[in-house]
Amino acid sequence: MDQAERLRQIVKDLKEKQRVSPQNARIITVTSGKGGVGKTNFTLNCAIALNNMGYRTLIIDADFGLSNIDVMLGMIPKYNLFHVITHKKRIEEVIVQGPCGIKFIAGGSGIWELLNLSTQDMEVLMAQLEHLDELADIIMIDTGAGVSEKVIRMILAANEAVVITTPEPTSVTDAYALVKSVVTIKKDINLRLVVNRAESAHEARDVMDNFIRVAQRFLDVKLEPLGYILYDDVVVRSTKKQKPFVLEYPKSHAARQVYSMAQSIAAGGQNDDGKAQGLKGYVNQLLKLFNSKRKAL
Ligand SMILES: Nc1ncnc2c1ncn2[C@@H]1O[C@H](COP(=O)(O)OP(=O)(O)OP(=O)(O)O)[C@@H](O)[C@H]1O
Ligand SMILES: [Mg+2]
Repeated sequence: MDQAERLRQIVKDLKEKQRVSPQNARIITVTSGKGGVGKTNFTLNCAIALNNMGYRTLIIDADFGLSNIDVMLGMIPKYNLFHVITHKKRIEEVIVQGPCGIKFIAGGSGIWELLNLSTQDMEVLMAQLEHLDELADIIMIDTGAGVSEKVIRMILAANEAVVITTPEPTSVTDAYALVKSVVTIKKDINLRLVVNRAESAHEARDVMDNFIRVAQRFLDVKLEPLGYILYDDVVVRSTKKQKPFVLEYPKSHAARQVYSMAQSIAAGGQNDDGKAQGLKGYVNQLLKLFNSKRKAL
């Protein structure tokens, strides 16, 4: 048995156990302070890597910018979460099948429509979301960039987040501001840091170490160094071709780095009670955060 086969066997055994006592999906937001730092590329390629390792992975695209998951895959989804919320489609019908078994859902304006739902509509939706927990082991949410209240709440609602920055000072300071806003409200969130588009491993480690040291010292928070990706032409080329680089250039440095980060993600992430959060838990949390804001106004 080679190593890959052994890994698949381990995951298969784990899955068997989960079938006996079904588990919720882990919810991981992928975010950044500044835009254009590589969130969507990371989300997509990491989701494919996780899927290839045996973890069923679903992406929810909550980014309203231009570089969306669908653009990166050259696919145009007909329906999005908005159609589910307005009862035009069932959740299974808005899931798009991406390469290598990954699934994604385009958020559209649906995520914010959640806030206007009646209790009855919310119950219907929650039952559907529960179904997604059965379909996926890991759900990654591409939040879009920026230190806006919406993005901060999307991060706060989850137990885990991946924060991406490039070595550029503006990107680093914006990422720091984002982390600060999050941990001021929620300290026990699992934050992982990725440095993307670094010129060298040395530069990436410098940025990573400094960020983590400053966050520890001034915010009293421990960030996990997830990994780094160098500036790599294969990322640019695969973006242009609308093909994920882990598939187009599996031997590239970028692809190998993403696989190693996917392994770290796969290895972590349980709550203290050993249970993952689940999409239903995430949406409940999101609603609580918005309702408390409304009351405060
Ligand atoms: N490691 C890398 N090397 C070279 N180019 C990269 C790398 N990572 C990302 N890019 C390029 O940077 C651009 C932005 O990447 P991406 O769309 O993933 O960022 P984003 O954070 O999702 O952006 P937005 O905030 O607009 O949603 C893309 O053109 C992509 O090809
Ligand atoms: Mg993006």
